[in-house]
Amino acid sequence: MTETTTERTLVLVKPDGFERGLTGEVLRRIEAKGYTLAQLQILTPDRERLAQHYAEHEGKPFYEPLLEFMSSGSVTAAVVEGDRCIEGFRSLAGATDPTKAAPGTIRGDLGRDWGPGVQKNIVHGSDSAESAEREIGIWFGGQGA
Ligand code: TYD
Ligand code: MG
Repeated sequence: MTETTTERTLVLVKPDGFERGLTGEVLRRIEAKGYTLAQLQILTPDRERLAQHYAEHEGKPFYEPLLEFMSSGSVTAAVVEGDRCIEGFRSLAGATDPTKAAPGTIRGDLGRDWGPGVQKNIVHGSDSAESAEREIGIWFGGQGA
């Protein structure tokens, strides 16, 4: 058996998920996997926060539509805790493109491609331990980040 490595990751349920009433379904899958919801908040993020969050994508063709989309409605931000949950949640989420995401994953089961522009793929999950700590600071800075 491999050793337990407890990690924290930053999960977002994006505005498409909120609007379609899928927040509970996403949180259910996280809890069913055995992860813990350590912190949770609903907010409409402003550009400044999103520019920090998506700094690595600045200048890419999808960057502006992405910020536009992400600031268009309510987002649920969660700090998720669990054994190897950074990679684990990325597995639960599935591939970035909902059309290519495997069935059984959040994006594969629930995500939709809605025309050109941005991928409305329901969720975000941090891609590394460094990203997770940086992103938790952006969304929960001060509050136990
Ligand atoms: P990325 O970090 O590459 O994907 P992931 O969310 O799986 O870590 O991209 C961030 C978001 O940007 C992605 O969830 C949706 C959007 N995006 C597009 O709209 N088009 C694209 O071609 C890419 C790569 C991303
Ligand atoms: Mg990413």
